[in-house]
Amino acid sequence: MNATELKNSFASIGQQSVFRFWDHLNDTSKHKLAAQLEAIDTSLIAQLAEEYVRTKPKFPHPGDIQPVKAYPRTAGPGQESLYRQAAERGQQLLKDGKVAAFLVAGGQGTRLGYEGPKGEYPVTPIKHKPLFLVFAEQLLAHSRDCGRAIPWYIMTSDVNDAPTRAFFAKHNHFGYDPKLIRFFQQGMMPAFSTDGHLLLAHKDSLALSPDGHGGSLRALLKSGALADMKSRGIEHLSYFQVDNPLVQCIDPLFLGLHDTTGSEMSSKTIPKAHAKERVGNFCVGDGVLQVIEYSDLPDALAVQKNPDGSLRFDAGSIAIHALRVSFIERLTAGGKLQLPWHRAEKKVNFVDASGHVVKPDKPNAVKLEQFVFDAIPLAHNAIVYTTDRGEEFSPVKNAEGHDSPETSRRDQTIRAAKWLAAAGVAVPKQGEEIDAVIEISPLFAVSAEQLKTRKLPKAVAKGEQLYLG
Ligand code: UTP
Repeated sequence: MNATELKNSFASIGQQSVFRFWDHLNDTSKHKLAAQLEAIDTSLIAQLAEEYVRTKPKFPHPGDIQPVKAYPRTAGPGQESLYRQAAERGQQLLKDGKVAAFLVAGGQGTRLGYEGPKGEYPVTPIKHKPLFLVFAEQLLAHSRDCGRAIPWYIMTSDVNDAPTRAFFAKHNHFGYDPKLIRFFQQGMMPAFSTDGHLLLAHKDSLALSPDGHGGSLRALLKSGALADMKSRGIEHLSYFQVDNPLVQCIDPLFLGLHDTTGSEMSSKTIPKAHAKERVGNFCVGDGVLQVIEYSDLPDALAVQKNPDGSLRFDAGSIAIHALRVSFIERLTAGGKLQLPWHRAEKKVNFVDASGHVVKPDKPNAVKLEQFVFDAIPLAHNAIVYTTDRGEEFSPVKNAEGHDSPETSRRDQTIRAAKWLAAAGVAVPKQGEEIDAVIEISPLFAVSAEQLKTRKLPKAVAKGEQLYLG
């Protein structure tokens, strides 16, 4: 498209202001802006500005909302043989090379405020290993155990792609075969002013941000990663996010349950900490499994209790999924991903009409993102499997306080202490707190069961810093 055609196409959707400084730009800047604008689907932008920015879309409330029946962590009565078969099935899928790990790491990580990709963050309590290394060690351990290397797909975005690749290269890909790692970038979405105009971050560039973890499904198709998976015979993706060092990147039982139940998209859940915890809720709305955000679950339902006192809507979402490759193909057929958009009002720097950069002190813009869990209602036979918070969820979201590096380091020690205690090792306590710092390398053990097979000390000393690697 030449500049006139581009100008006309943005004018036709009322977005001509993105050309405000065009005549004053040099050729390099003109190319830069033109490349960003050409990548934009103008009819989509026009629709989003109308449906999601100028108006606030209402959450389409299901008429009937019921709790989900999640698979328990360990087999309940009558489920023993299903769980045994599922665990075997999961192992077999790994041995047959049918599973790939899928890490989404394209987010901006603004709350943590770390300079650089979040995966670089030194997260472990003793060795200060970066998140990427924690995942790499887990995947290497599972590859070792199943006798077959596990391919690893990593989604980045324009905000962190180059530094992420450089970090992996600098660390020799953490011992992973680089041929098994495939990086690809997700899409970017422009920010809007609250009256629906695209914002410029500079005179020659739009204010862009990653299009949400739901954009990963489209990015898998567009980047060719999906085709690559097909050519390698990969049937399932084990999806996890970059901020949770406790995640089991590969869980044979979960993968096996997902496969044997014919589920296209499976999810892990944990019991919520309290009725209003700010996590999504797995619910069955009008007969369809879905995640309802904490802000959309009516209070009257959120606080409902079962006769035993537990919460009736207790299934919190922790962003761990298994997805069939064929499901992603189906969802992205024709290049369109039919997931809803989520609107968030944020502070976004922009250039005003006089060309000055404005740094707002309150939200001035609307950002739109797609969320991966919105694919669940579109999946056949979707299941939810229960895990344990202490075993599998302690994300690093904020710089301080709740879900911070400090709480995550503490939770890593608590889990390690629990695994050691289960293996018969005495762990010192002071009141309720573990009186030691403990770190277990995933290469030493990926689970409490595996730890029992390792040579262990009889006891951990009071105040000791114990690293098992
Ligand atoms: P968050 O929802 O915590 O967002 O992402 P964030 O951008 O990382 O952090 P804040 O909100 O700015 O503090 C959860 C997971 O989804 C990934 C993140 O990298 C993280 O693994 N993600 C999020 C993407 O890959 N792309 C996105 O567009 C958004």
